[in-house]
Amino acid sequence: MSTHSSTAAIYPGAGDRIEVATIEVGAPHRGEVLVQIKASGVCGSDRHVLEGEWGVPSPTVMGHEGAGVVVELGEGVTGLDVGDHVSLVWNQACLTCVACQSGKPWACTDLRSNDCVMPDGTTRLSLEGADAYPYLAVGSMSEFAVVPASAAIRMPRELPFEVSALIGCSVHTGLGAVSNNARVIAGESAVVIGCGGVGLSIIMGLQLAGAHPIIAVDRNAEKLEIALAAGATHALLADDETAVRIQELTEGGADVAFEAIGNPHTIPQLPGHVRPGGRAVLVGMPPENAMIPFDVLDLCYRGITVIASNYGGGVPARDFPRYAALYLAGRLPLDTLISKRITLGEVNDAFNAMRSGAEARSVVVFDESDV
Ligand code: APR
Ligand code: ZN
Repeated sequence: MSTHSSTAAIYPGAGDRIEVATIEVGAPHRGEVLVQIKASGVCGSDRHVLEGEWGVPSPTVMGHEGAGVVVELGEGVTGLDVGDHVSLVWNQACLTCVACQSGKPWACTDLRSNDCVMPDGTTRLSLEGADAYPYLAVGSMSEFAVVPASAAIRMPRELPFEVSALIGCSVHTGLGAVSNNARVIAGESAVVIGCGGVGLSIIMGLQLAGAHPIIAVDRNAEKLEIALAAGATHALLADDETAVRIQELTEGGADVAFEAIGNPHTIPQLPGHVRPGGRAVLVGMPPENAMIPFDVLDLCYRGITVIASNYGGGVPARDFPRYAALYLAGRLPLDTLISKRITLGEVNDAFNAMRSGAEARSVVVFDESDV
């Protein structure tokens, strides 16, 4: 049981930049594990924090899409061993409340991870002697992290760490929105607004489900190229004609449409892209307290189902290994999501690239030889 010094990406609590500093990571408590992080994706949900759109306790150790190797077990941990490769869960459900027992960990009523603390309300991290907080109770932009054992899902050793990391957030969110929330079936027509890591994962899920056509929309042409490689059948550069083009391509609206940006302007347009009886699936998360108007009379007349999706409505312990198996079998082209492997020192550049919409996912890797 020892404390580890760990180089980490810190959000100080103001401004939109991350600072790289050395934190102390305490030993895992009962039921927790210490993980040496090998890869951490740069996700839109980290960006929300830097833009001041979501409040978090600070200083914050950023990163919530991580994978690594278990290096120490807290007391009482069963089912994991030192040396196991794991992908980390940021929705750290209690697994005992009624929602969890009903198979809905995303609806856990005892969740603490959104507050960036461990299940007991404390933190294992410190910076210059004061408490520091792991973003979404993961804090994977750090050489070491402590998480509840139930939030470390064992993955096959042959799975690359950067793919394992993405399974922990964007892939679980996107594929789950298609299968668990929208329950897309073969032949349904689909639209995806926003083709970042989450939108591209939705497109891959739609392809697996047999949706057709799969129409990708983004304001960035580079993203549309990646969307086509990920399985989209049509790509539309977002402009004033987008809604009309979708109507034409789907002959009156898609069966299902997904918003994967979290933009208060594109979210209310979503029901307009689906046909009567269709589903509008809200995946992208807007800034805190954003009140977004919908034309409710239109929703009622046309019988539109609006579905709000949280973490893909899935079950990490069940779904992460399934996605790994599909990738390893060559049926889920998750490498398409990764545009760049970077060091922690390059994280600010990666967020700038994300703001411009230029690239797919950047993934921080901790072994310099992997960059
Ligand atoms: N119209 C069309 N496309 C847009 C627009 C717009 N107005 N604004 C942004 N985009 C595109 C960007 O070009 C980018 O490709 O949306 C995509 C957003 O992707 P990322 O920034 O990489 O975000 P991602 O990690 O995919 O997360 C998206 O899902 O889970 C949530 O919190 C997450 O709200 C975030 C959202
Ligand atoms: Zn994420």
